[in-house]
Amino acid sequence: MQAVREWLREASSIAVLTGAGVSAESGVPTFRGGAAGTPGLWKQYRAEELATPGAFARDPKLVWEWYDWRRSLIAEAKPNPGHYALAAAEARAAKFTLITQNVDGLHELAGSRNVLRLHGSIWMLRCLECQREREDRRTPLPEIPPRCECGGTLRPGVVWFGEALPSKVWQDAEKAAREADLFLLIGTSAVVYPAAGLAPIAKSSGARVVEINIAETGLSDGIDEFLQGKSGELLPQLMA
Ligand code: OAD
Repeated sequence: MQAVREWLREASSIAVLTGAGVSAESGVPTFRGGAAGTPGLWKQYRAEELATPGAFARDPKLVWEWYDWRRSLIAEAKPNPGHYALAAAEARAAKFTLITQNVDGLHELAGSRNVLRLHGSIWMLRCLECQREREDRRTPLPEIPPRCECGGTLRPGVVWFGEALPSKVWQDAEKAAREADLFLLIGTSAVVYPAAGLAPIAKSSGARVVEINIAETGLSDGIDEFLQGKSGELLPQLMA
């Protein structure tokens, strides 16, 4: 912990990748479990069975029910001390990029500014016909699946398995990882690519890599420091 504090002070360029674990203490369930009370499943489905274009084509109502449920939980959620500690760290750092896989918007609510949302936003809806995007924060949605004024079906404005990440966002994330001298990997199972590839990119470009998680992941070997615990507790201690 002391060494990592020192690295944070010394770093001139910090990049952070967060996953669902940072929002677990805000009451947002993770996808693959790991936190008390969050089984990582909705009904009997895994994220990989619902967050795909194929699943949406087969059963848009089912997929929307899952997103509507997540939206209602996220609407009630507030940033936790981990989110606030990252926003405070950004305010002090010369260069700080927060890359997140989360679609909940809690980093922005906590005051983080330079946020790259790799997987989109759960509050955005996009028409499958006219492609128009709009923000809609209503929970529950009055109609499922929701419809566009053009008559088309609206889908969640998030990235699904098998879809490309928004290219500019990904390029910026890769650049931040390459240029970082300190890379923090926080609350992610690090199994979903390309996001999970960012820590190895940072490492091979010379950054120190620190992981914060309640349990080890496939990336934990070969990094510089693994801090075991809840991000909502460890991050405020680190940034204090
Ligand atoms: P996961 O649900 O796969 O992993 C959550 C991670 O957070 C696990 O490694 C837990 O051990 C850890 N964790 C849980 N509570 C924690 C806490 N309080 N403090 C620190 N760590 C904690 O979530 P992601 O890695 O974000 O993508 O999942 C990646 C992507 O898979 C998501 O963005 C989503 C999902 O399917 C799409 O939908 C495309």
